[in-house]
Amino acid sequence: LGAFVAPAEAQTYPTRSVTMIVPFAAGGPTDVVARIVTAHMAQTLGQSIIIENVVGAGGTTATTRAARAANDGYTLITGHMGTHAASVPLYPKLAYHPEKDFEPIALLAGTPILILARKDFPPKDLTEFVAYVKANAEKVNAAHAGVGSVSHVSCELLHSILDIKPVGVPFNGTGPAMNALVAGQVDYMCDQIVNAVPQINAGTIKAYAIATPARNPSLPNVPTTAEAGLPKFQAQAWNAIFAPKGTSPAIVASLNAAASKALDDETVRKRLLELGSVIPGPAERTPESLATLVKNEIAKWTPVLKPAT
Ligand code: MLT
Repeated sequence: LGAFVAPAEAQTYPTRSVTMIVPFAAGGPTDVVARIVTAHMAQTLGQSIIIENVVGAGGTTATTRAARAANDGYTLITGHMGTHAASVPLYPKLAYHPEKDFEPIALLAGTPILILARKDFPPKDLTEFVAYVKANAEKVNAAHAGVGSVSHVSCELLHSILDIKPVGVPFNGTGPAMNALVAGQVDYMCDQIVNAVPQINAGTIKAYAIATPARNPSLPNVPTTAEAGLPKFQAQAWNAIFAPKGTSPAIVASLNAAASKALDDETVRKRLLELGSVIPGPAERTPESLATLVKNEIAKWTPVLKPAT
């Protein structure tokens, strides 16, 4: 009989608004994905979800705060490949561990990486870009969202393939970094597609290539890195919701169901797809599958990235 009695908290949760920490500036890719999905989740849960942008240290400041929050389902975080994987090798003194200090809730989106540049950056295509940054490695600069952020880690991978070490220019998120790129204040950036599509379509920045095996339907004219001559550079990030460790299984289940329902909603899907996101299928949305993704991503990035000093 016990199996048929839902825990009291699952029947009542949530009874007040839920805080969703976004570890980067408003208007950037994590913020945009979190806002699209949580707006729908709030309808399902019957309570508002308030986004709180907490910036700094490549998203690790916010993620530390989320790890230490009460595990009552009222403080969550939309983390990503940086905060919940790449940060591990890059920050030897990281105050949290993505696997030990969080309950995975649900994967929200895959976000392919693009090589972008200010509109008047001289190279016309990826071949010219490679030659130019190699010849001018001491002069060019790459914008990013802090050590351990997706933009930082992706360009680190690109730079290791090209064997160059250009100057990095850190921002509190690629929202502000994109503003600087549009304004011509920085040279180039490796950014998630969600942030890039509106600017590429508006013609305010250049896109040299998308680092995925196939072109993205939202940007049919942008070649893949393989088509453009740099097949080794492959990069796709992801966004996912996490709760502090020890959050009850009933709350995890209700948040997971609300997130999955949002990803099935036509309006949510349309907005995510217009921005080039890859929407996870049902099997990829479970907490177990997110736990596996985090484990695999830590294992993948650890040998690639060196600790920040
Ligand atoms: C953001 O939301 O600003 C990004 O996800 C930052 C990044 O990791 O590059």
